[in-house]
Amino acid sequence: MSELLSPPGDVVERVFGDGASVAIKFAALLADHGVERGLIGPREVERLWDRHVFNSGVLAELVPQNCRAVDVGSGAGLPGIPLAIARPDLRLTLLEPMARRVAWLQEVVDTLGLDVEVVRGRAEEPEVRRRLGGSDIVTARAVAPLERLAKWCLPLLRPGGQMLALKGASAAEELQRDTAAVAKMGGSRQRVASCGAEVLEVPTTVVVVERDEQVGRRDGGRRRRKDG
Ligand SMILES: C[S@@+](CC[C@H](N)C(=O)[O-])C[C@H]1O[C@@H](n2cnc3c(N)ncnc32)[C@H](O)[C@@H]1O
Repeated sequence: MSELLSPPGDVVERVFGDGASVAIKFAALLADHGVERGLIGPREVERLWDRHVFNSGVLAELVPQNCRAVDVGSGAGLPGIPLAIARPDLRLTLLEPMARRVAWLQEVVDTLGLDVEVVRGRAEEPEVRRRLGGSDIVTARAVAPLERLAKWCLPLLRPGGQMLALKGASAAEELQRDTAAVAKMGGSRQRVASCGAEVLEVPTTVVVVERDEQVGRRDGGRRRRKDG
């Protein structure tokens, strides 16, 4: 294994537990094919672990046991694949509209033997909402600004479910800018959370937004008034 693919210290075991060897295989797949297949930029290979694999895997801290989760705009498989490796208890779907990325995701899932569903589509499409709506958790990294992300992702959640948007250093600023718009769409208990602080030099910053418990009832009320 090249030095680039050697995970630093014991962090891989601490983040992935029994899945450590699978996480190492995923990093190797990304390093071998990610650049040539246009999934990650050439400069990303040298920071594959910290910036991508660990940064995604620690999200497991925020995800409840045995829940149904969707990773919107999974691309190379981030954060979805590391999350699936760290948390085999989840029922996870990777959602991605681009055919060649969907093909990559399916290959990775098959190669690593993960029990994960891959769906081609956009989060806002009615068919995707029908199929994946009612989820407990929706994750997304580098997909869209917060307001647009909430518009796409909140309808995929059950009332009380949570959107976890990996946002990096801009998280607090973005949240401040978009709080009112997100609240209008039924996003409540908005906050910035940090995960991986005990294992990573740079913890992952996540904007957490809960789907309002009232949204379903309010929508139902509106529909009934219109129909009547
Ligand atoms: C910049 S890439 C990020 C990929 C990955 N999440 C990561 O962090 O490396 C954005 C991804 O979002 C996908 N995407 C864009 N709009 C989307 C939508 N409306 N629904 C689902 N995925 C979308 C794109 O096809 C692309 O793969």
